[in-house]
Amino acid sequence: MLNYQNKQPYIEGVPLEDIEKVQQTPFYIYSQSKIIETYNNLKNALNTKVYFAVKANSNQAILKLMNSLGAGADVVSIGELKRALNAGINPSNIIFEGLGKSRNDILFALDSNIKLINAESMEELEIINEISSSLQKKVNVGVRLNPNIDSETIKKISTGKKTDKFGIDVEEIPTIVNYIESSSNLKLTGISCHIGSQISNISVFGNVFKFMKEAAEQFINKGIHINHVDLGGGLGVQYNENDLTLNLALLKKEINKYFNQIPYEISFEPGRYLVANAGILITSIITTKKNGGRNYLITDAGMNTLIRPALYNAFHSIEPIEKKSSKIIDYSIAGPICESSDIFIKSINLPEQKTGNKLIIKDVGAYGAVMASNYNTRGLPAEILVNQNSFAIIHKPQTIEENINLDLIPNWLN
Ligand SMILES: Cc1ncc(COP(=O)(O)O)c(C=O)c1O
Repeated sequence: MLNYQNKQPYIEGVPLEDIEKVQQTPFYIYSQSKIIETYNNLKNALNTKVYFAVKANSNQAILKLMNSLGAGADVVSIGELKRALNAGINPSNIIFEGLGKSRNDILFALDSNIKLINAESMEELEIINEISSSLQKKVNVGVRLNPNIDSETIKKISTGKKTDKFGIDVEEIPTIVNYIESSSNLKLTGISCHIGSQISNISVFGNVFKFMKEAAEQFINKGIHINHVDLGGGLGVQYNENDLTLNLALLKKEINKYFNQIPYEISFEPGRYLVANAGILITSIITTKKNGGRNYLITDAGMNTLIRPALYNAFHSIEPIEKKSSKIIDYSIAGPICESSDIFIKSINLPEQKTGNKLIIKDVGAYGAVMASNYNTRGLPAEILVNQNSFAIIHKPQTIEENINLDLIPNWLN
């Protein structure tokens, strides 16, 4: 997506300079052609239905693009469900899962006639039953299972171990079956799981596939007509040259090993894989300083703009736009937030930089803008989509004033 013409950075066919003329830093840029290319590669390799995990990047322009490519949406909150519907995704292409759905969320989802609502607990299944009965409706439900499989990636993004808060224990399958059989309002049509993110180890996927195939058989043997098995997201991407790349051909081989001549469709719900490498964050150096012999570049983007390094120690490579100086300096690059964890990179060798120069933080298309916050009363960043020689602002930056004006002062303090 990022390329250089006459030493000037371009995103697809758009000079970065043109975007900078209309948008102050920090801002995110996504490349439409990179998203299309990645989606098509994945789709061609796996040949299964793909539900884009909206949590990774929930901008409606991105959702519209995914829709145009044929992806469905996997949503984990009522807000994401409303975004997906607003973006024009057909309800029959939307799966709603995630913990902590309120009664109102469930009512809205059932009213919207989405493809599937996946229960994360027996209690949630009972509430879905109660609400569908009050609506005098028979609804398709799924259950998210907890496979007790270690994703072998970052602990903070692992979701599939027995003690994690997600999914229902397989030991509860007989209870689920009895409950479904006793309900005249629920039709159990799907099972799903998701064990974590950033997985490139094929044998971990193999363990998930084996588990899901056996779980589907358990339901089918008990007379439940499962017609949809969702194998989750978690497909890993490269952030660093040393990261393993996910081998799609091997993944497909593993799928074929387990899912041959099956009486149900299978699908995946990747988020990160489809968008991470299609996004960059442009930030300006607001000051330079030296502390205890360490050279700091302080940027206008911080953990409020991109929290992954502070939250998960995640690595994002950073490239300066200005590379002229022959003097190479070991820099720490940090945001402006008053937290010592607000550091993007502790040590990176760059040509000497000065205040006002811009830096490109890479691979931020997933879990970037969606996780931005107002911490330290800083505004939210803009998002821009590039399509060949055109670009558009797809998310207006939130100003500090807009944020401040949300506070309400009670009359006894006035
Ligand atoms: C239920 C569910 N599905 C899919 C995803 C997408 O994961 P990833 O972005 O790693 O593909 C997540 C992310 O945590 C999730 O919780």
